[in-house]
Amino acid sequence: MKILMAATEAVPFAKTGGLADAVSALSIALAQEGHEIRIIIPRYYSIDRNNLQYLEGALGVPMGGREEWSAVYTTNLPGAPVKNPVSVYFIDHEQFFGRDGIYGVPSEPDFLDNPRRFTFFSRAVFQLCRKLSWYPDVVHAHDWPLALVPVFLKYGERIGGLAKTVSVLTIHNLGYQGIYHKDNYYYSNLDGNVFYEAGFDDWNMMNFLKAGINTADKLNTVSPNYAAETQTPAYGFRLDGVLRYRAADYRGILNGIDTKVWNPAIDRYIPKPYSIKDMEGKIKAKEALQKEFKLPLEPDIPIIGLVTRLTEQKGVGELFGPAYGSAWSICQDMRLQMVLLGSGDPWCENEIKNLSYRLANFKARIGYSEAESHLIEAGSDFFLMPSRYEPCGLNQMYSLAYGTLPIVRNTGGLADTVENFNQDTGKGTGFIFNDLTPQAIYNTVGWAVWAYYNCRAQVDAMRILGMKQDFSWKKSARQYSALYEEAIAKAAKTS
Ligand code: ADP
Ligand code: GLC
Repeated sequence: MKILMAATEAVPFAKTGGLADAVSALSIALAQEGHEIRIIIPRYYSIDRNNLQYLEGALGVPMGGREEWSAVYTTNLPGAPVKNPVSVYFIDHEQFFGRDGIYGVPSEPDFLDNPRRFTFFSRAVFQLCRKLSWYPDVVHAHDWPLALVPVFLKYGERIGGLAKTVSVLTIHNLGYQGIYHKDNYYYSNLDGNVFYEAGFDDWNMMNFLKAGINTADKLNTVSPNYAAETQTPAYGFRLDGVLRYRAADYRGILNGIDTKVWNPAIDRYIPKPYSIKDMEGKIKAKEALQKEFKLPLEPDIPIIGLVTRLTEQKGVGELFGPAYGSAWSICQDMRLQMVLLGSGDPWCENEIKNLSYRLANFKARIGYSEAESHLIEAGSDFFLMPSRYEPCGLNQMYSLAYGTLPIVRNTGGLADTVENFNQDTGKGTGFIFNDLTPQAIYNTVGWAVWAYYNCRAQVDAMRILGMKQDFSWKKSARQYSALYEEAIAKAAKTS
């Protein structure tokens, strides 16, 4: 099959979170299965044109009664099979993407012209196909910024070479829907009646994701449990009804992890590789982590690691909220060390800095670091993810692969990938709690620390069990190709 991945992020070019990992790793896994994959992303300011190849000729994109002109650059996706390379196309438009930030900057977290930027980019997807005379069987759109792709396909673009093309929409995070003033609809060049027909209407605002959900041939989210949760009012962010309506076409497909990057046996960021057969490298990684974060070099004290965006989704309020978050009492009351790497909401960054001044056993780095994230995964004993909601979550899978036991909330993909410790049978791969409260986090970290000191053999057995799990993308890629087939079959039946 020919598949065009349309997204706003893809490693190693642009990343704010797991979306970037998922887009590239899925593309590679599908290419390994023999599919012809191409990716389209914007050419952000941070992506150096000098490393890309320029494609002759401008790309015109009709928008709001005029044409926006852009350039196209290309390169191959690193890590894709040599015999079946994946081309990445970059749409270069100075006004929309020639600035710092992908969705925003700290002073303007959601750029005011985002609806216009991503309407442009979604329309460019089709213009690129025409420019290349390359017509995919499936356009696979990711998240709200590309949610107009299925809408454009249904209302107008399914012509010529694209007459048989179908759309698949993946929801990586229902918390971000792209809800804007409906004046922005003008840029879409869609008829006025499509605003209601496609279901853009959201209390008189324009909801990008809602229209995408309504019109995509097939859709999915990134874990089976989140697919079920999002169809309930508690997790549906007001779109649970729309998702229930599409239930027959809506799946949950678990993300995988890139096993070339996240694999302790070949990890170049850790002092000594390790595997189930020889775990010495994990002890060395712990020592290196303590050195790196200037913690006392004690081999026999449990380290709790965190690598996260500091936003409400990740449960940081319950952990670091001034006066009620439990991180303070966890570090005060328990014999452990805690190490955090992250960036995000300013209040939370400040609170974390504050804690690290006041607590000798809590160290934090505010910022983004690939190297340190690997060292934390390898050197920690436990990895904490108290997410409010988690569509899939990658870090708990990295943790399992590194023999680091996840402490997670019973939600989304966390519940699909971690098995709770059972003290009677000794089985399990991590520690799970239900309620998102500071007390529940405190108690469950306490339980894990207690197990570390009192059931070491069981804890070590859990590490090995986690390391044996298969989280490679192969299985997920097969589920995606089945979903593509279903979309094609469905479109053939109705056309
Ligand atoms: P989300 O996409 O919601 O942030 P995921 O668990 O799917 O959550 O993916 C997060 C990804 O971003 C992981 O690859 C994680 O290692 C990475 N990450 C997040 N914050 C940082 C950071 N400060 N430094 C390095 N990597 C980070
Ligand atoms: C989103 C979700 C995260 C998921 C990632 C990749 O950022 O928050 O849970 O793992 O997308 O699909």
